[in-house]
Amino acid sequence: MSRSAHPAGPRHADVLPEGHYSAPPADLNVLDQKVWAQTVGRNDDGVVTVGGVDVKTLAEEFGTPAYVLDEADFRARARAWRTAFGADADVFYAGKAFLSRAVVRWLDEEGLNLDVCSGGELATALSAGMPAERIAFHGNNKSTEEIHRAVEAGVGRIVLDSFQEIVRVAHIAQSLGKRQKVQIRITVGVEAHTHEFIATAHEDQKFGIPLAGGQAAEAVRRALQLDGLEVIGIHSHIGSQIFDMSGFEVAAHRVVGLLKDIRDEHGVELPEIDLGGGLGIAYTSADDPREPHEIAKALTEIVGRECEAARLRTPRISVEPGRAIVGPTAFTLYEVGTVKPLEGLRTYVSVDGGMSDNIRTALYDAEYSVALVSRASDAEPMLARVVGKHCESGDIVVKDAFLPADLAPGDLLAVPATGAYCRSMASNYNHVLRPPVVAVRDGEARVIVRRETEEDLLRLDVG
Ligand code: LLP
Repeated sequence: MSRSAHPAGPRHADVLPEGHYSAPPADLNVLDQKVWAQTVGRNDDGVVTVGGVDVKTLAEEFGTPAYVLDEADFRARARAWRTAFGADADVFYAGKAFLSRAVVRWLDEEGLNLDVCSGGELATALSAGMPAERIAFHGNNKSTEEIHRAVEAGVGRIVLDSFQEIVRVAHIAQSLGKRQKVQIRITVGVEAHTHEFIATAHEDQKFGIPLAGGQAAEAVRRALQLDGLEVIGIHSHIGSQIFDMSGFEVAAHRVVGLLKDIRDEHGVELPEIDLGGGLGIAYTSADDPREPHEIAKALTEIVGRECEAARLRTPRISVEPGRAIVGPTAFTLYEVGTVKPLEGLRTYVSVDGGMSDNIRTALYDAEYSVALVSRASDAEPMLARVVGKHCESGDIVVKDAFLPADLAPGDLLAVPATGAYCRSMASNYNHVLRPPVVAVRDGEARVIVRRETEEDLLRLDVG
């Protein structure tokens, strides 16, 4: 269908959603820098470019859908965290947000450490040459085999998540003739203001050992008695996609409180605390994330102040940002396949990916932005819903968006801020192939994770 022949979107004044998309933006061609990677812009032809490469070239060369990652932006964000926390703290990038060997090398070069939470992430980190002592190993149910591998490799710390695991790790370390550095993950009882599935500091959930009722203190008591363990600190992660700093502050306060109790009971001052990740990013223009230096300042100040009051030596702080580093660095590039106006409702725009490359909309009601990136358009805004190609009506990528009414099959759309938890949570639902990750930098684009093929799918199907 030619662009001019395409019917304009339905009149939608009566179905405008609430919140971010309650009114169309003044100019749909303008890209809000808040939600796009740093090097993204439009060239003179109206085509969006990233890292000096335009999206039409990327689509031709690598196909769609594709995750397109701005390497310079990734490195800049990693560096910003590193610089903000300085030499007296450690930044562990949370690999669960997105991990590949290229990413591990960038982190290594930028001086960050790495948090892994499975044998697969550990294998990826080690295979890319991340020094084991800069790796932290997480998880609420690490297998014996995973623990064995981590201890044998010499990971810098294992974060213990249960009473059983305290004993398990101690035994494995002893059997290997080692003393494993560990932190104990506690739940501090903070209600983080985020989606229920990604809040992790309240007590009624699977992670950590509750501070309440003296359980965390008991865990420390037991761990300190075991020869296979060297308890280096306490860990707290309150949740993810958080904007309100107060949760982190309360957590820091309670963690220091526990350090004080430990000192009073055992005469031991644990040297480290880890305050986890969780800093929110902008998915739409309505989000206002905090900068790493603000977080660093707030956390360092509160820990310093509390320690001084408790007459404790200030512990070394570590943090574990995932989303805040990789999230904004990538967008997903899709091609429009069909445009279906539903009179009086909205226009459904189908793209060539969907819930298999971005499950966050379906899983968390996450909001995303979207833009027409293969050309500029002066057409009227139409209220659209960007949907995928899966056999499920909940297969929504962007629930409410304004797109130009002349949108047509063949146009390229990009959904920004998909660097975190999109490729890493991608699936093969409907046997759809997972898209590649293409890293762009200084006018060069290269595949860092290749597109899945039907051979890849069939390789596992051995029946
Ligand atoms: N540290 C620990 C112990 C964690 O469990 C997590 C995330 C992080 C650090 C990194 O959090 P971040 O800075 O990325 O918020 N799939 C969900 C997010 C789950 C987060 C799990 N843990 C999503 O797509 O929003």
